[in-house]
Amino acid sequence: MANLVLTIISLLAIGWTLVHAGEPSPLQDFCVADFDSPVRVNGHACLDPKKVTADHFFFEGLHKPGNTSNPLGSFINRPTVDEIPGLNTLGISTVRVDYAPRGIVPPHRHPRASEILTVLEGEVICY
Ligand SMILES: *[C@@H]1O[C@H](CO)[C@@H](O)[C@H](O)[C@H]1NC(C)=O
Repeated sequence: MANLVLTIISLLAIGWTLVHAGEPSPLQDFCVADFDSPVRVNGHACLDPKKVTADHFFFEGLHKPGNTSNPLGSFINRPTVDEIPGLNTLGISTVRVDYAPRGIVPPHRHPRASEILTVLEGEVICY
């Protein structure tokens, strides 16, 4: 009986491994891209915080409607870290999508990311 209990405990110990998965907490609040640095580690190197300004987190242009006169009937305005240096290493972005009636955005994925849609006018069908 003791052998059986010992065997069960041994099997549990072998097969039961504590797994911890998930994104590590960010080590910094922000890391504004330093485009002059040759270092590339998970994005751009961080600009010296003393050189960071509010403009590094600002993008002007999402208020402008895009031209949807194309075969897809949609226009995506997706500023990246190149336009908003403050997005560097954050893994977030913001996008404006304009659709013509019956316009589409081809199927796509957002690996390791979530998506929130806000429809300001009309109706969007998501599959
Ligand atoms: C929108 O795109 C179409 C096709 O490229 C072009 O003919 C038209 O001039 C553009 N309209 C505007 C307002 O830019």
